[in-house]
Amino acid sequence: MSAIRHRAPQDTSARKRKPTERSGAYEPTTVSLADGARPLSQEWLERDTVALAGVLPRITDLVIERGEGSWVIDVDGRPFLDFTSGIAVTNIGHCHPRVVAAIERQARELLHVSVVAHHTRSIELAERLGRHTPFFTSPQFFFCNSGAEAVDGSIKLVRLVTGRPGVIAFRRAFHGRTIAATSLTTAKPIYRNGYEPLLASVHIAPYPLPLHDGGAGASTATALAELDTLLGSVGAGTVAAMIVEPVLGEGGYVVPPVAWLDGLRSRCDDHGILLVLDEVQTGMGRTGRCFAAETFGVRPDVLLFAKGVASGLPLGGIAAERSLMDRWPTGAHGSTFGGNPVSCAAAVATLDVMEDDGLFERAAVLGEVTLARLTAETSSIVEVAEVRGVGLMIGVELRSKEAAARVQDACLDRGLIVLRCGPDESILRLIPPLSISDADLELGLGILIDVLRPHRH
Ligand SMILES: Cc1ncc(COP(=O)(O)O)c(C=O)c1O
Repeated sequence: MSAIRHRAPQDTSARKRKPTERSGAYEPTTVSLADGARPLSQEWLERDTVALAGVLPRITDLVIERGEGSWVIDVDGRPFLDFTSGIAVTNIGHCHPRVVAAIERQARELLHVSVVAHHTRSIELAERLGRHTPFFTSPQFFFCNSGAEAVDGSIKLVRLVTGRPGVIAFRRAFHGRTIAATSLTTAKPIYRNGYEPLLASVHIAPYPLPLHDGGAGASTATALAELDTLLGSVGAGTVAAMIVEPVLGEGGYVVPPVAWLDGLRSRCDDHGILLVLDEVQTGMGRTGRCFAAETFGVRPDVLLFAKGVASGLPLGGIAAERSLMDRWPTGAHGSTFGGNPVSCAAAVATLDVMEDDGLFERAAVLGEVTLARLTAETSSIVEVAEVRGVGLMIGVELRSKEAAARVQDACLDRGLIVLRCGPDESILRLIPPLSISDADLELGLGILIDVLRPHRH
């Protein structure tokens, strides 16, 4: 991830200016500060450099003070339209009032109980999430704090219940930063290099890339053939699980052919291997259903989620059929903070909003509109290699890293935050909140399309 620098504001009189309200939202204004004045962001950035470890990447140099809906506002009072949702987390927008109220209420009642006792919020949340996992007959949930923790926990689960060591992960995957999740991650060398020895018995198979490997049919056939070769060479009977992102996230926003996902399912069934869907990024409505397993009609044995589930509070989880969870002995795994009452209350409120406001359906509809619009408007732009996606998880692959960086930078200059992904960061990814207003979506797409047009480069 490369840092992009925002333009230094020039006029201090604007520091306290309230951003223009526009149908409940803001206008991306270029706030300027008076001659010679130092932006507050600059001061905070200098303190950040001294106080915080540089290992944590930050995609922009913005210093954010507040978030509201689809907008974030920096310490200099400048609003930015957020097409990142904090990397697929604030799926119902920043600081949704119903989530904030639920957090406040819960914080007054009970902050923490851990494994000392049971608590109502986690039971309630598991029941509510269970309504969105129709591919399970009798789902059970284990709550933790993050996506990587969910991945780690799932490796322990599949090894324990199958008695097999092997885990198959897929090329360009990203599963998180713990040492076990790192072992399954090949999205970029920086995620792994220097951390060896990683987890043993992890095998990497190809993820189909229709754009680069001859289209949907050919890329599926090649990827499945290589997987079969791998299963033959390591011995399918040594493999506990395949773990896969239903849409490749950090690795490039690639939507795989459903035939490939079906191919994984059938091979798992044939060999007694468990299929783990890592829905940390695809989950919580991104793909038009709560989980992509439902969107694609693929039945997982284990489903992992985090990110959007609690609108920004730390929460992750492992879901599986009760018959599988029953084979995980009590005490074989656990967490001090996992599924804490405040995160669970935030998650229940998040689901309330998603269900009451029809946000899964909205993601599907807005996704189709956005894909169609971007495809049409960029068809003659040579630098755009492909527009693809499902729901509000949309990738725009450019022909070079430099082009993608230029577009990202130019969007930021005009008040729109977009992310990049892929091994060489040549793919722009659009992950606006599912609750984004039509006007704000139109505003952001207008900026992006304008910036993508060749005359702007
Ligand atoms: C698919 C996927 N799995 C796992 C993770 C790790 O989640 P966390 O950062 O919450 O540990 C991520 C984070 O981006 C992800 O996209």
